[in-house]
Amino acid sequence: MSEKIKVAVLISGNGTNLQALIDACIAPNYPAEIVLVISNKANAKGIERAQKAGIKTRIIDHTNYRSREEFDCKLSIILSNSECKLVCLAGFMRILSESFVNTWPNSILNIHPSLLPSFPGTKTHERALEAGVKFSGCTLHFVTAELDAGPIIGQAAVPVLDNDTPKTLANRVLIEEHKLYALGLELVANKILKNKEADLHREQSTVSKSLINF
Ligand code: GRF
Repeated sequence: MSEKIKVAVLISGNGTNLQALIDACIAPNYPAEIVLVISNKANAKGIERAQKAGIKTRIIDHTNYRSREEFDCKLSIILSNSECKLVCLAGFMRILSESFVNTWPNSILNIHPSLLPSFPGTKTHERALEAGVKFSGCTLHFVTAELDAGPIIGQAAVPVLDNDTPKTLANRVLIEEHKLYALGLELVANKILKNKEADLHREQSTVSKSLINF
């Protein structure tokens, strides 16, 4: 089996995006594997999904921590111990502190249910309908300290129909989120593997050059 990038997934709820990633990881040549699922809510349905797939789970209830920083610090320690290289936010309803984000540079992915930079934050579908946009969609992006503003990995668009409600639009977007997340994670994980390979070749050629000079 070829090398896979270890991934942790953070959730708060239903976990259908998590399920899409679990399903994608089943393919033998998929370059990522989920090593840990963390939820800040004990009753998140996504925890059941992870357990069913035989993935290690942890509940870290944010209400047990005195501050955002304290919770994020605990999160960071658990993630480091899991040896994950990437952290996928999948319906994780917590804003992460600047210090957490800076501890995991270019390593945190988030799926957002709008075509960023339009409609960052919450109530995206309500706001998209109010604004009268004819297309909406979803964005997979790297997480930076600024909310929903990190570099975009990919986007998928869907039409907004005249009789849409926030719910019907959300359902249409969610189908695309699942495809985009699996594809985007594949792209990012493959890039990391390629860079690792290039680093290894560079190291080997440095070693052989120094042997020649010896
Ligand atoms: C998704 O729409 C995601 O974009 C948003 O929250 C929803 C989570 O859905 N952040 P699920 O938990 O993955 O089913």
